[in-house]
Amino acid sequence: MKKYRFEYFASCPVGIEELLKQEILDLGAKSASVTRGGVQFEAFNEIALKVVLYSRLSSRVFKYLYAFEVFHEKDYYLEATDIKWKSLMDVNQTFRLTTIFGDLPREREEFRNSQFANLKLKDAIVDYFRHYEGIRPSVAKEFPDVAFLARIDRGVEKPYLVTLLYDLCGDPLNQRGYRIAKTEAPLKENLAAAILKTLNWNSKEEGLLDAMCGSGTISIEAALIRGNIPPSYLKVERYLKNTNFKLWTFLNYPWFTKDNLLQENFNLLLKNISEETLAGLDFLRRDKQFITANDKSEMSLLSARENFKKAKLDDIITVTHFDALETSPQAQKTLFFCNPPYGERLEFGEEEKLKSLYKGLGDHWKNHFKNHRAAIFTGNLEMLKTVGLKTTKRHILHNGDIECRLAEYTLY
Ligand SMILES: C[S@@+](CC[C@H](N)C(=O)[O-])C[C@H]1O[C@@H](n2cnc3c(N)ncnc32)[C@H](O)[C@@H]1O
Repeated sequence: MKKYRFEYFASCPVGIEELLKQEILDLGAKSASVTRGGVQFEAFNEIALKVVLYSRLSSRVFKYLYAFEVFHEKDYYLEATDIKWKSLMDVNQTFRLTTIFGDLPREREEFRNSQFANLKLKDAIVDYFRHYEGIRPSVAKEFPDVAFLARIDRGVEKPYLVTLLYDLCGDPLNQRGYRIAKTEAPLKENLAAAILKTLNWNSKEEGLLDAMCGSGTISIEAALIRGNIPPSYLKVERYLKNTNFKLWTFLNYPWFTKDNLLQENFNLLLKNISEETLAGLDFLRRDKQFITANDKSEMSLLSARENFKKAKLDDIITVTHFDALETSPQAQKTLFFCNPPYGERLEFGEEEKLKSLYKGLGDHWKNHFKNHRAAIFTGNLEMLKTVGLKTTKRHILHNGDIECRLAEYTLY
């Protein structure tokens, strides 16, 4: 059994790892390195908490605990009972385990089933506590006190490398707490923030038109960026109203509860976040025309409005109800952003409609958005071609399992 050499891991949608690395370094990490779907980093404990509370791009943040190698799946249970589980959790706490596979040796058939591996680890934890304390902790799928992640990869000395991590978050960080209403295919909140960062959106000078806003994710993330409001602001507010409800799982870990200095730092971060939120909302109220959320569907706008209210941004984001092809620039410099329907499973006649929408966008920008910028985020690469304008840049970002393109256009 060995301690792992990295201290923390932050996961994110594939394609935004470099942005996340920079964000983590900016938050004060000592060093960071990119892997597919995340960033490993070294940092003081309070910086890891800062990442949990301030990262716009992470999905989750984990703390490395142990790594060990095994020959067979059979050895897994035995090796796992060697871990000093009572230093990681209390027998009265509930726990949740998630097992994921990374890069496994092809020729081996064991460890092909993550549920089975999960079961073995659960048995190891339960038997450990039965042996040392005479009772067993319970499993909780929802709202566990302690959440572990086990990752199984190809080993160096033995075929399999098992890495055990604490999930510091509980609910994923992208769930900011404002999405109470959904439309079709809403963007994940951290992906929306990453899109704005990838586009180098100048939040102080370039107005934003979220022309097919759906449930309003891009508009909300844009407002939070412009106002410098930490993405955890709603969770922090909720936590301060009821500190008994452990909104982040790290609050239950000895890593946190036995470190007085870390707790002091956490309280300071909460205070700062509350102040930054008030100042940010105040700043945003000074120019209410800066961000416009538009959609042609009444239903979408209904959801967007509900989310804006929950996000405390309903008096800040302007809502309009037009066809995107009838919109006009909102400011001297405007970024026209759209996330049109992809048309994954198109019914007869819909493909033509969608094509004419994408082509219409290109024509509309040429005629009405000269000297502004435009961008499309879509999973439909064929449709993108019908826009008919030369892209300034194209980026590959994954929306869940779908490989998408973010295409940028500078309009002269
Ligand atoms: C994929 S959804 C956008 C999801 C959004 N990004 C979110 O995070 O919730 C596409 C949206 O485009 C809108 N839409 C489709 N055609 C439009 C058009 N011609 N003008 C304006 N909105 C349109 C739909 O009503 C729908 O709300």
